Amino acid sequence: MITMDDIIREGNPTLRARAQKVTFPLTAEIKTLAQEMMEFLENSQNPELAEKYKLRAGVGLAAPQVDKSLRMTAVLVPGEEGQPAIFKHVLINPTILSESVQMIALSEGEGCLSVDREVPGYVPRHDKIKLRWYDLDGQEHIERLKDYPAIVVQHEIDHLNGILFYDHINKDNPFATTDDMLLLE
Ligand code: CO
Repeated sequence: MITMDDIIREGNPTLRARAQKVTFPLTAEIKTLAQEMMEFLENSQNPELAEKYKLRAGVGLAAPQVDKSLRMTAVLVPGEEGQPAIFKHVLINPTILSESVQMIALSEGEGCLSVDREVPGYVPRHDKIKLRWYDLDGQEHIERLKDYPAIVVQHEIDHLNGILFYDHINKDNPFATTDDMLLLE
């Protein structure tokens, strides 16, 4: 299983590389990696397991974060207590087909399993995206996402392009807002 020891941290060049496209059919190794990445997110959101294995809670984990430079990321946006997940998929070769002009940022800023420090500031994201990805069987999916799931997916796709969330923070004024940026509590 993947634990925090398997997750590389800022400073490691893999996090700054553009990851390679994944080819189908998937190798057994890549399938296992995909399953383990999702399992990490499930475990990290389970209070008992998270404590037992000392996992930081996460809603997304991209392959470059476990030092595999592949265009693949697991996303698990949980629903309300006892409700099914809002978005739970392993995205292979994800692409944003279109995005809203409307921007949004989390009022609390963002965090990352590969960044062991708080970096305050708004991270502007597109409020809505039209996303295409492939599942483990090579099946194409197209879905429109907005607000929090859209933010999470943009953070994860950034990892596939060597970008970290704080690259988007305004250096001079981290909490600068524009009239047209929504803030999500
Ligand atoms: Co991250």
